[in-house]
Amino acid sequence: MAEIKPDKYKNFSSDTYVNYISSLKLSNFRNYKSFKANFIQQPIAFIGKNGVGKTNILESISLMQPGRGIRSVKLEDMSYKHRGNFAIYLNLIKNMDSIAIGSSLDITLSKVRKVKVDGKFISPLSLTEYLGIISLTPLMDKIFIEGSAIRRKFFDKITWIFVSAHANNVRSYEKAVKERNNLLKENSSDTVWFDNIEKQIVNFGTQILINRFKVLKLLNKQIKDNIINFPKAIMSLDGKIENIFNESSTIYYFKEEYIKALKENRKIDFYRGSTTIGVHKTDLEVIYKEKDMIASLCSTGEQKSLLISIIFSVAKSYKNHTQLSPILLLDEVFSHLDNDKKESLSREIENLNSQTFMTGIDKSDFMTFSKDSCIINLDSK
Ligand SMILES: Nc1ncnc2c1ncn2[C@@H]1O[C@H](COP(=O)(O)OP(=O)(O)OP(=O)(O)O)[C@@H](O)[C@H]1O
Ligand SMILES: [Mg+2]
Repeated sequence: MAEIKPDKYKNFSSDTYVNYISSLKLSNFRNYKSFKANFIQQPIAFIGKNGVGKTNILESISLMQPGRGIRSVKLEDMSYKHRGNFAIYLNLIKNMDSIAIGSSLDITLSKVRKVKVDGKFISPLSLTEYLGIISLTPLMDKIFIEGSAIRRKFFDKITWIFVSAHANNVRSYEKAVKERNNLLKENSSDTVWFDNIEKQIVNFGTQILINRFKVLKLLNKQIKDNIINFPKAIMSLDGKIENIFNESSTIYYFKEEYIKALKENRKIDFYRGSTTIGVHKTDLEVIYKEKDMIASLCSTGEQKSLLISIIFSVAKSYKNHTQLSPILLLDEVFSHLDNDKKESLSREIENLNSQTFMTGIDKSDFMTFSKDSCIINLDSK
C-alpha cells in the first residue's frame, strides 16, 4: 500500500475557518489498488508524469459531492480495471469535529454508490451538508462554446454547495419532466395526470429558480473583490421561464403563469416530443466585464481566466455565506497561465486559506507560491 506523508507541513491556518480533509484512502479506485495520504489545511500539489494518477485523486475527492464527479462518467468505469467495486474514505475536520465519510460501489449489489457518514447511510445528494467542493478541470475549457446543458449543470453544482436541498430539487424536477415527456410520447389524454405532474414540475422548478437566482446575486456581488489580473465575469441566467419570473410580481403569480405555460404548451410539446419550457432550458450567460464581451467570443485564454474568476467568486462567496471554507480541486490550472496570472492565482489561493488540491507535471508549476505548498510526488510512490 502506498502511504503518503507530505514532504513539508507549513501551518497555513490564520483565520477562524477550520475545515479540511485530513486523510484520504482509496481502494480499487481507477489506477489505485490502494492509496493513502494525510493532509492539513493548505495548498496541496500532486505532481508526476502523465498517467501517474493525479487527476484520479482529484476525481475521488469530487465524488464526495452529489453526481458522478469531475469526469461525469459511469461509476463502474472508476473501479480498478473495471472490476466493479471501489471505496473512497476520507476524514473531514470541521471546526472541532472529525467526520468520517465513505463512498463505495459494489456493482454486484447495486449500480448506485453508497455513502456513509460516521457509519450511517445517507443519500449522495446530501453530501453538500458536510462539505462544499469547487472544481476546475481541463474538461471545462469548452464550457462557453458548447451547448447550454453543460453551463446549466455547472451552475447547479455551484448552487447546491450553497443550498443543499438544491441537488434533491434538481433530481426530483428531472424525474417529473421525464414523466411528462413519457405522457407526451404516449400521446396521453389523461389531463388529470398531466395536471398532477405539471404541478410537481412547477413546485420543484420554482424552488430551483429561486435558489439559482439567490446564488447568482451572491456571485455577482462578489466580483467587486475580483482576483487581480483576471477578468471580471458578470453572470446572468436566461430563458423563457426566467423572463416570466422577472415579469411576475409574486411567487404565487409566477407559479400560476408557469402552470399556464406548461398547459398551453402541451400541443407543441407533443409535436416536439419533450417539454420545451422550464428550468431545464436555462442558459448561463457570462460577460467579460472590462471588454463588454460575451464569453463565447473571448479567446481561449480569456475563457479560462473567466472560469477561474468565477471559481474564486464562488469560493469567496461560499466562505462569507456559510462561514466554512470550500475544498478546491484545480486540475492543471497553472500549466497554461502567463506568469502574472500564475502569481495572482497563487496569492489568491494562499489568501483564501481553503484546502486546495492542485495538479501539475513538476514542482516548477508551483514556484509562484510564497509559502511552500505541500508537494506530493506520485512518481516515487
Ligand atoms: N478503471 C481504471 N482502472 C485502472 N486504471 C485506470 C482506470 N481508469 C483510468 N486508469 C488509468 O489511470 C491512469 C492515471 O490517470 P490520470 O488521469 O489520473 O493521470 P494524470 O496523472 O492526471 O495524467 P495527465 O498528466 O496526463 O493528466 C491512466 O493511465 C489511466 O489509463
Ligand atoms: Mg490529469
